[in-house]
Amino acid sequence: MTATIIDGKAIAADLRARVAEGVAAFRQSAGRVPGLAVVLVGEDPASAVYVRSKGRATREAGMESIEHRLPADTDTETLLALVRSLNADPAVDGILVQLPLPKPVDTQAVLLAIDPDKDVDGFHPVNAGRLATGMPGFVPCTPLGCVMMLKTVHPDLTGMDAVVVGRSNIVGKPMAQLLIAESCTVTVAHSRTRDLPAKVRAADVVIAAVGIPALVKGDWIRPGATVIDVGINRTEAGLVGDVDYAAASQVAGAITPVPGGVGPMTIACLLSNTLDSARRRG
Ligand code: GUN
Repeated sequence: MTATIIDGKAIAADLRARVAEGVAAFRQSAGRVPGLAVVLVGEDPASAVYVRSKGRATREAGMESIEHRLPADTDTETLLALVRSLNADPAVDGILVQLPLPKPVDTQAVLLAIDPDKDVDGFHPVNAGRLATGMPGFVPCTPLGCVMMLKTVHPDLTGMDAVVVGRSNIVGKPMAQLLIAESCTVTVAHSRTRDLPAKVRAADVVIAAVGIPALVKGDWIRPGATVIDVGINRTEAGLVGDVDYAAASQVAGAITPVPGGVGPMTIACLLSNTLDSARRRG
């Protein structure tokens, strides 16, 4: 059996079209357009590519992209001052500080300074707490996109066994919270987990988010399981996910490709979070 390919590009295009409609309606009723501020510090080439595509997608959705590019030697105080000015700016509905920041910068201090009600990345501890306790708030874009893709295969996830491989604050932990909220039974595994293949084999839903190329092998996948591959690893062989796609796609029921899976959904969810913020702020 060959797995159904979950087409992240198509699902993201759908969501982006719905956001663009929402933006047009918001513009009519509020008399302004939603604004997303993106802060890029330094010259990291991957970050520069992400920021450029976020800016383009923001404009395509009819929103304003407010871009701040700062030199690599920017200090923490300068960044904090910029974040505070964006917090106070009524034209800014969402603030995204592209990570990773250069080493000397105090990343935690910068993320803490962002107004939780403009934190469209969902990285502020207040939003992590809201997610963990079922209160409305911003959910990190990548796990949010993963749940949307999962729901194209399983509209009701109730009672399913899910394994999340990876425990990062940005993906693994919020992913587990979202799956718990969907009434899945969730195992959070990671690089130090004992007998990882057995944990993965027990799962109906596998989320791979550890950043190790092709870690999850085809014979770890339960036949018919749904596999979401969050990994974007640059290797000599090109862009590779955390799942051995060639083998896993022969066993899984449905699987996301890399590229063209989770990646496009992350940006679409960022736009969706920014529109939500504008609606809440009016
Ligand atoms: N770096 C890699 N992914 C992300 C993301 O989703 N948000 C931010 N702010 N930085 C990132």
